[in-house]
Amino acid sequence: MTIQWFPGHMAKAKRQALEKIKIIDVVIELVDARIPLSSRNPMIDDIAKNKPRLMLLNKADLADPEVTEQWISYFESKGFMVLSIDAQKGTGIKKIPQLVTKLAEPLINKMKAKGMNPRAIRALILGIPNVGKSTVINRLANRKIAKIGDKPGVTKAQQWIKVGKTMELLDTPGILWPKFEDQAVGYRLALTGAIKEEIIDFQDATVFLLTFLREHYSEKLKERYNLTVLPDDIGEMYDAIGRKRGCLMGGGLVDYDRVAEVLFRDFRSGTLGRMSLEVPGNRR
Ligand code: G4P
Repeated sequence: MTIQWFPGHMAKAKRQALEKIKIIDVVIELVDARIPLSSRNPMIDDIAKNKPRLMLLNKADLADPEVTEQWISYFESKGFMVLSIDAQKGTGIKKIPQLVTKLAEPLINKMKAKGMNPRAIRALILGIPNVGKSTVINRLANRKIAKIGDKPGVTKAQQWIKVGKTMELLDTPGILWPKFEDQAVGYRLALTGAIKEEIIDFQDATVFLLTFLREHYSEKLKERYNLTVLPDDIGEMYDAIGRKRGCLMGGGLVDYDRVAEVLFRDFRSGTLGRMSLEVPGNRR
């Protein structure tokens, strides 16, 4: 099945993001640390081009720490200010206001030069669905902010949340859609929970995952499913994992759908271990 990419939705999201950005000093771009490229929308560079930007690699608790370090260097070499965080537990969140203020230094200096009293720096969180935007906003606000889309038909007035003395955050994030430039991007997005798995071919995505895990995380795979050797053939891998996990149908045949579900769940929840599905310089 080919994933649809809706240019109309993209254009609308871009318009809305551009509208929000007008009153913003600093853009906080949120990506998934496990797939920092696939979870970005290329339009962000266009949308945020005139604003200082902080890039947050979220869900770092689920990503391979070594690979996350490589991503930090990669984005820093491209001129970004980067921070890896775990918004669910709150790790790294405290550093955000400091970095936002640092990014806004030229603006603060300009205000001072004009004899103005520097005001709080206004920030906006931008990112694709499910990347953790609301979780970050709630962490920064220290309370639960209603999510847009929580109440159908209700449009929420935007408000500023005070974060410390020097920063204000818009309480509604900017939402951008991921761009499915190829099937692999779609699989990565589904595997990390950014898009519903119903819109991709579930079995194809599982084969993609198994092929990837065999190549890059074979030890973790063996450990999790108690396998002494990993078969070369993907079908045999399904069989081996299915038997170990009791995913069987009548007649003792392995139920491939259940094996796929187990693999998907174990990857998404981090039960398989901390893993990244993308590495700088190699889209894998
Ligand atoms: P969004 O606003 O960008 O759409 O994303 P949201 O904050 O709703 O987060 C999407 C899911 O990702 C939530 O899980 C949230 O708990 C989880 N999440 C956010 N940040 C992190 C993180 O740093 N690490 C991990 N492991 N998870 C994170 P959910 O399944 O929708 O809900 P629940 O698990 O919290 O019940």
